[in-house]
Amino acid sequence: MNVNPDEPRLLLVRGDITEQHVDAIVNAANSRLAGGGGVDGAIHRRGGPTIMQETRRRFPDGCPTGSAVLTGGGQLPAKYVIHAVGPVWSGGDQGEPALLANAYRRALELAAEHDCYSLAVPALSTGAYGYPLTAAARVTIATLADFLADHPLPHTVRLVLRDDAALETFRQALSDLSGTVPPS
Ligand code: APR
Repeated sequence: MNVNPDEPRLLLVRGDITEQHVDAIVNAANSRLAGGGGVDGAIHRRGGPTIMQETRRRFPDGCPTGSAVLTGGGQLPAKYVIHAVGPVWSGGDQGEPALLANAYRRALELAAEHDCYSLAVPALSTGAYGYPLTAAARVTIATLADFLADHPLPHTVRLVLRDDAALETFRQALSDLSGTVPPS
């Protein structure tokens, strides 16, 4: 492992997660691992059919909410896809924050177990699953920062946001947590 201590470990970027040149990307999957729209649709379109073939073969029972499983990356630039299942937003008193945090933590653990130096993650649950962006940003940033503080791998986590509004919301959550304005 070649760790560069000067490199920031948590980066916020606007873009398309399927285009990230990292060791692994995280998919916003559902518990049946059945594919869908949003991040999931983009990953299976760009990655090709081998990803779904592998999930069906290795994980026929799917993956519980708040957890994650890992497959190869097919034709994506990333070597692995980590399929993480965030919660559906049901008002906030159905354990959604803990389930969202657990989904990220399990994804990061799998990345570490597979020696991934760099990982790209989307804003799980904030699309079809309806998790309010500001609340999701707080949980997401705190969970990623906590994990990075305790683990050498993955060294770099790139949080990939789809638009400027999401990027600004996550930047605010990061600055609230660290008390500093993160670099652009
Ligand atoms: N790259 C990065 N972010 C993206 C991309 C992309 N290519 N496409 C969408 N997003 C953003 C959305 O704008 C949203 O903020 O990712 C966030 C998560 O949205 P979804 O993909 O809808 O994921 P989620 O809310 O977790 O819902 C999961 O949707 O597609 C289905 O099969 C999936 O049932 C599952 C559910």
